[in-house]
Amino acid sequence: MTITDFDLVLFGGTGDLAMRKLLPALYARDRAGDLPDTARILCLGRDKKSQEDFRALIEEKARPHITANSLESAAWVRFCARIAYVTLDASQADSYQALKAALRGSGEINHIFYLATPPSLFSTICKNLQANGLATPHSRVVLEKPLGRDLASAKEINAQVGRVFTESQIFRIDHYLGKEAVQNLLALRFGNILFEPLWRREWISDVQITIAEELGVGGRFGYYDNSGALRDMLQNHLLQLLCIVAMEPPVSNSGDAVRDEKLKVLRSLKRFTPTTLGLNVVRGQYRGGHVDGVAVPGYRKEADANPESRTETFVALKAEIDTWRWAGVPFYLRTGKRMADSLAEIVVRFKSVPHSIFAQNNSHSAPNCVVIRLQPDEGLHMNLMAKMPGDGMRLKPVELELDFREKFKAARMDAYERLLLDVLRGQLTLFMRSDELEAAWEWIEPVLDHWDHQDSDPFPYNAGTWGPAAANALIGRDGLQWREEALPEL
Ligand code: BG6
Repeated sequence: MTITDFDLVLFGGTGDLAMRKLLPALYARDRAGDLPDTARILCLGRDKKSQEDFRALIEEKARPHITANSLESAAWVRFCARIAYVTLDASQADSYQALKAALRGSGEINHIFYLATPPSLFSTICKNLQANGLATPHSRVVLEKPLGRDLASAKEINAQVGRVFTESQIFRIDHYLGKEAVQNLLALRFGNILFEPLWRREWISDVQITIAEELGVGGRFGYYDNSGALRDMLQNHLLQLLCIVAMEPPVSNSGDAVRDEKLKVLRSLKRFTPTTLGLNVVRGQYRGGHVDGVAVPGYRKEADANPESRTETFVALKAEIDTWRWAGVPFYLRTGKRMADSLAEIVVRFKSVPHSIFAQNNSHSAPNCVVIRLQPDEGLHMNLMAKMPGDGMRLKPVELELDFREKFKAARMDAYERLLLDVLRGQLTLFMRSDELEAAWEWIEPVLDHWDHQDSDPFPYNAGTWGPAAANALIGRDGLQWREEALPEL
C-alpha cells in the first residue's frame, strides 16, 4: 500500500513521546525513503517559539534518540526541513485557526492528527478540529494510551472521538503490537501448519506471558501512581499478547478480520468473582533493593512519591479462556517494575509425553516449550528432548534457537516506525478497535473495584527480584513455576 502525501500534526509536539519516539521513528522512515517528498510534520505546543528555537529543541531532545549509525547529516537536514512548529492551545477552539492556516488544504493530502496528549484532551481536540472544519474524510486520528482508566472513561473517550471520526479513521496505539517478535508470532502461527494442530488444550499445558522491567518509575511518579501496573501494562500490552497467542485463525490479515478474532478472545476470558480474585490475582509494590548491583529506592521513596501509596508496581494473574480450544489451560500473566531482569517473553508449554519408554533415572525429561522472546533480543526458542551422545538412551532437553536479528540481517524497525507507517497507509490491523478496548477494560474492571475496596497494601518485594512470593504461590498451586532462568544469550 502506498503512502499518500500527508500533513502529520503532532499534538504534544514538544513532549517526551514526540522527542524520544515519534520524531526519531519518522526520521528513520524518511531516511529509508518511505515518506512522500512533500510530506510535512507540524509539531504543536502551547508556548510561543520561533522555528529556530524549535529546531534547536529537536537537536537537543530528539536527535540523541537516533542511533549513531543511522544518523546521516543530509538525511537529517532534509527531515528537519519537513517540520514546522505551530503555537496552539488545544483547549481553545479559536486557537486552531493558526493550525488551519499552516495545513495544506485536504483533498489529495491526508491530515493525520496524532494526539500525544493526556486523554483528558482527546474529546476537546476532536471537537475543536470539527468546529474548525479540520475533521474531513481525508483525516485520521491517532490516540496514545492511556485510553481511559476504567470501562466508563474508555467508553466516554470512544463515544466522544466517535462523534467526530469514523472507526476506520481512528488508530488506537498499543506499541507492543508493532514489535517485530509479535509480528513473528503471527507468522509462526498462521504461516506454518506445524503448530496449528497442537495449539490447543489437548496438547498445551499452560502459557506464561511476562513483561519485566528493571526500570522503576523515577520521574513519572505523578502519572504512574494514578495508573499502576494493571492499567499501565496488563490491560493493554499483556492482554494484546494473550489475544495473539489465543485467537482463532483470522480469515485474512485485514484490520477487522484480526480484530474480530482478538475481540472473541477478550470476550471469552473467564470473569473474576470476589472469591476467584483473591486466589488468582496478586499485586505487589517494590521496596528498595539492588538492580544490576546498584542500590535503588523503593516506590514510596521515589522523587515526588506519596509515602503511603498503594499503587501496584507488579501484578501477576491467572487467566482462563472459556472456549473449546482453551478451556482449562491457564494463562499466567505477569508484569512489574524493578524486576531482576528486563525481558518480555511468551512461553507456551506443552504437555508431557503420556508415557515415557526411556528409563527415567537416566534422563532429565522436560516438556516441550515454545518461547517467543520479544526483548531484549527477538527470537524463538524450542525445547526438545534429544539423546545424549554415547551408549544408552539417555535423554536431555536441548534448545533450538532462532535469532531473528542474526537470521535477517536487514535493518530493524522500531515498533513506532512500523505503526506510524501503518497509520500513514491507513492499515488498521495493528490498532485496537473500540469494542476491543472496551472488552479489555470490562474484564479487568472487577480487579480494579476489588482493589479500590481493599484496606490493605500490595505485597512488598525487593527491587531486583522477580516480585512478591505470593506470585510464586499463585502458579505454584498448580504445580508450576515461572520460567525465570535466563535463556542463553543469542
Ligand atoms: C509503556 C508503559 O506503555 O510501556 C511504561 O507506560 C513501560 O510504563 C513501557 O515502561 C514498556 O515498553 P517497552 O517497549 O520498553 O517494553
